[in-house]
Amino acid sequence: MDMRPVIVVHGGAWAIPDHLAESSTNGVKNAVTRGFSILANGGNSLQAVEATVRILEDNIAFDAGHGAVLNADGDVELDAIIMDGTNLAVGAVSCIKSIANPVMFARTIMEQTPHVMLTGSGANKFAEKMNIKKVPAEELVTENAVKEWEQYQKYKQSVTSLFNTERMHDTVGAVAIDHKGNIACATSTGGITNKMVGRVGDSPIIGSGAYADNFIGAVSTTGHGESIMKVMLARKVLFNMEKGETPQSAADQALEYMKNKVQGRGGLIVVSKSGEWAARFTTKRMAWASIANNILNYGLNPGENFQEKFDLNM
Ligand code: GLY
Repeated sequence: MDMRPVIVVHGGAWAIPDHLAESSTNGVKNAVTRGFSILANGGNSLQAVEATVRILEDNIAFDAGHGAVLNADGDVELDAIIMDGTNLAVGAVSCIKSIANPVMFARTIMEQTPHVMLTGSGANKFAEKMNIKKVPAEELVTENAVKEWEQYQKYKQSVTSLFNTERMHDTVGAVAIDHKGNIACATSTGGITNKMVGRVGDSPIIGSGAYADNFIGAVSTTGHGESIMKVMLARKVLFNMEKGETPQSAADQALEYMKNKVQGRGGLIVVSKSGEWAARFTTKRMAWASIANNILNYGLNPGENFQEKFDLNM
């Protein structure tokens, strides 16, 4: 099969403040460009989504890797998942510390263990064994994350009220289809500010934070984790597509269902087996970008879709 490659990325669905708008937009545009160049040079979708999410994890504008939000104790605890649509192989990590690129570690778990997810201290022990680079815990902590955490501590806002105001940061992700029609997805997050120690969100949960199947498509989600898990948002979008919906209507219906059923808001990116894609959200903003058919699309506010001609050799 010779498909035209497609990649879509998101930098989290939440009420992105104006001071982060430009860095979020530039961050997703930069990541999608680099991810697409992997596909254009013959790389596969799994390599592309891993590399793209690593770039987003390294960018302090986003709540993943460097720049992750802090839990109730003021520590960073990270979750991530990667999934290969060719064989439904999946690797995930939850509640890990001091690892700058959890998506890379999730891939190691997928490829080097018989398991799907490792968590907490066991995961960190396995990371050491596999020589996954450890960084000092404070290296992942940004000034912004500390300021936000201090503010929440001061006003003793609960996680629920944060969700209502959509002020929590949220998650990065990528979905891609390569020349051969192979599909993959990856999602990575620091979760939500002031979360309980040990809290695991939707991102590393198969079918909630992500799902990929060559016979349907791939999805990466973002938003209020407790709501996303209750409706298994990623798989729900793909179920809708299996029933014949387009990626956009499948996404809108799933997000609407989550809003009505559990009063949860969020966003997602999706690519279908035929290369159709969508980036949809019910929060105030979501930074997203895609490259397909030599066009770079991107947006931040509802209804926005800026387009630029994209040529790798430009
Ligand atoms: N969506 C990320 C989280 O709730 O942890």
